[in-house]
Amino acid sequence: MAPSNGAYTMRLADLRDAQAIAQIRNEGIEDRTATFLTVPRTAGQVEAGLTERGDRHPTVVVERNGLVVAWAGVGAYRSRPWYGGIGEFSVYVGHDARGFGVGTMALHGLIGACRTRGFWKLVSRLFPGNAASRALYQSLGFREVGICLRHARLDGQWRDCVVVELRIGRPSCLANGLVWAGLFTDMSAHGRESRHRADFQSRVPDPSQAWTAR
Ligand SMILES: CC(C)(COP(=O)(O)OP(=O)(O)OC[C@H]1O[C@@H](n2cnc3c(N)ncnc32)[C@H](O)[C@@H]1OP(=O)(O)O)[C@@H](O)C(=O)NCCC(=O)NCCS
Repeated sequence: MAPSNGAYTMRLADLRDAQAIAQIRNEGIEDRTATFLTVPRTAGQVEAGLTERGDRHPTVVVERNGLVVAWAGVGAYRSRPWYGGIGEFSVYVGHDARGFGVGTMALHGLIGACRTRGFWKLVSRLFPGNAASRALYQSLGFREVGICLRHARLDGQWRDCVVVELRIGRPSCLANGLVWAGLFTDMSAHGRESRHRADFQSRVPDPSQAWTAR
């Protein structure tokens, strides 16, 4: 059933959400528009992933009437320590909840959760024809870095990938003791991105707070 104007709430995911997250992910896998994965995920796999990523790499869920309708999660970009503040994210909305601002809400919440954990950048990849995610990322200020041509095969067909990034804060203190704060100040001179960043920084909610989607 499509949602009407009811209130959506957002919170950090926990292990009890594994089944719902898997189900929504599997709808996205069936679509063949979002991921190279072709094999459905099980709740057990999702649960193991949530456990492994722990609080450092959060997942948020959006609920309506107590049912999870969307999620957004971040994992490590690379294992090298200097990339520790970069997160690679995914966002999925259940079929029936798409087009109501729920994806925006989930990704917004994930950005907030990552910022409070000291991440300085989020990255992702998407298929060029995925108009909804392209619009979603653009509306939240993501920059399209470029297109990786013939990046991998989906069902035997080579697919290109658009790489996107969003800087969400300045690098803070790294494990090696270097303080990077201020290092990237010059980079914030990129007009549109910095204006947008300042704008959405004031709007990104804490995922533990209730939010109302449009
Ligand atoms: C991509 C996805 C997360 C978007 O979530 P959503 O809740 O449907 O999107 P929203 O309603 O928040 O809309 C976000 C923006 O996308 C636009 N949009 C939504 N659906 C669209 C569509 N089918 N075509 C073009 N634009 C679309 C909206 O107009 C909005 O733009 P605006 O803010 O400039 O008005 C959702 O479609 C989805 O789960 N798709 C399958 C999984 C996927 O592709 N994930 C991304 C790659 S990991």
